[in-house]
Amino acid sequence: MSWAEQAEQHPHLRSLRCEDVVAGYGEVPILKGITITAHTGRVLAVVGPNGAGKSTLLRALLGLLHVRRGRILLGEREITNRPLEELSRAGVGYVPQVDDVFDSLRVVENLSMGGFVLSRAKQQERMAVVLDMFPALSKLMRRYAGSLSGGERKMMAIARVLMPDPDVLLLDEPTAGLSVELTQMVLETQVGLLATVGKAVLLVEQKAEAALKVADDAAVLIDGQVVLTGSGPEILKNQHVAEIFLGSNIGVIR
Ligand SMILES: Nc1ncnc2c1ncn2[C@@H]1O[C@H](COP(=O)(O)OP(=O)(O)O)[C@@H](O)[C@H]1O
Ligand SMILES: [Mg+2]
Repeated sequence: MSWAEQAEQHPHLRSLRCEDVVAGYGEVPILKGITITAHTGRVLAVVGPNGAGKSTLLRALLGLLHVRRGRILLGEREITNRPLEELSRAGVGYVPQVDDVFDSLRVVENLSMGGFVLSRAKQQERMAVVLDMFPALSKLMRRYAGSLSGGERKMMAIARVLMPDPDVLLLDEPTAGLSVELTQMVLETQVGLLATVGKAVLLVEQKAEAALKVADDAAVLIDGQVVLTGSGPEILKNQHVAEIFLGSNIGVIR
């Protein structure tokens, strides 16, 4: 089955919403009341400078960090402070910024690990769908993950998380450490594709301009607060956005 057919037949597509979420590491909250929604079939980019709270937001959404106030909804179902394993069974996939692959395993083994909860038949079916989405991976199947380039590695990390066919994907700075060309390739080709096949994609990025170019929806996060929301194109051409980024960290907008 091709990914287009798979997307069409997808039975329960769901969005991820967080409402007024407050969370932090100690007494002082880092996230100060965040409300955002990642819709099915769309890319929501949350952009903000280093230290804004982007990774913290993903950790709170994933139940890795206690949410003190507010709630998180997957479709209609409340998933606030549920364990990661439960979220993963409910259809939430997470690609962390680092430590996202097993270096000492081959690509094929990394993909199998991603789908370890599946039956053998289902695993083979998903492997075919994922390779159809990322044909370049087919040639790399026997390679050890540790020998891949940065771009290949990220492609594999995304493919691995796609194995159990999640409805929602959370991506933490997938372009960190990649060149300008690879950044564009990963965002436009790979992240964009995820939305095309019907996933709700929450992309957090420090590279605001590159992320906003592929975003359907966008939110600007500064110091644990969403200061601006709109469509990707709207935020991209917003005068304040350039000022915000140039004011806080020269160069991050690229
Ligand atoms: N494990 C931690 N313990 C305490 N403070 C942390 C921890 N991780 C991050 N922080 C703090 O939380 C804030 C937001 O960090 P983070 O979410 O990593 O930002 P971003 O991902 O946007 O760069 C920063 O002030 C950071 O120092
Ligand atoms: Mg981060």
